[in-house]
Amino acid sequence: MMINSNNGYILEAEGLHKSFGGGSATEHVLRGLDLRVGAGEFLAVMGPSGCGKSTLLHLLGLMSGPDEGSVIIDGRDTTGLGERGRAELRRRKIGFVFQRFNLISVLSGYDNIALSLRIRGLDSGRTDELLRAMGVEDVAGKKPSQMSIGQQQRLAVARAIAHKPDILLADEPTGSLDSENAENLLELLSKANRQDGQTIVMITHSPMVAGAAGRIVHMKDGRITNENH
Ligand SMILES: Nc1ncnc2c1ncn2[C@@H]1O[C@H](COP(=O)(O)OP(=O)(O)OP(=O)(O)O)[C@@H](O)[C@H]1O
Ligand SMILES: [Mg+2]
Repeated sequence: MMINSNNGYILEAEGLHKSFGGGSATEHVLRGLDLRVGAGEFLAVMGPSGCGKSTLLHLLGLMSGPDEGSVIIDGRDTTGLGERGRAELRRRKIGFVFQRFNLISVLSGYDNIALSLRIRGLDSGRTDELLRAMGVEDVAGKKPSQMSIGQQQRLAVARAIAHKPDILLADEPTGSLDSENAENLLELLSKANRQDGQTIVMITHSPMVAGAAGRIVHMKDGRITNENH
């Protein structure tokens, strides 16, 4: 039997640095950020606008690489992986809800989800169930541009959880929802966390939304201020 080398952490960030721009315009966004997320944890990340929350989530989701430091998934350092290796790991392990949704504009709501399942070799038969769970079955035949922002957001969440990823990374998933839909969504995430053991990292500006998580961390000056694992 393999010995588990991840110490119970499914996702770790060690000494992450990330800058944008160059020369005198360089913006040093992440400054040696450390974060450890336990398997099965539901974590909320809070912090002021522009502090680097989305930047952090993109690094954790292997969408881009850090300037320094590493992202470790299941005890495995992803630093040496090429673009293909990262894409493969992302496809297998991670579901991502983007702040700007990133739905495929030429596809219907239904096909946005069905495609996400098919590219992973999964049966797309669950698509209707997912659309219903997120309350967007009425817009299944519409393109994203024909949906309200809240409907697009719920569709983006349905797509991210469709393949039951081990790790769900969600960037303000309730940001465009009314309170009823926000509550429904949080219930769905909590259920995915409790029943399916999905690990969730959720960015939010709302203390109420963050309250649904098991732990809350705050970002300031490019680091997590209360990371005490
Ligand atoms: N691709 C990029 N190129 C240049 N600058 C960037 C890029 N991405 C982010 N930044 C800058 O990095 C900083 C952090 O951005 P980020 O999107 O991570 O903030 P955030 O905490 O998610 O903010 P918000 O709460 O408003 O979503 C900002 O000042 C932003 O201008
Ligand atoms: Mg952001």
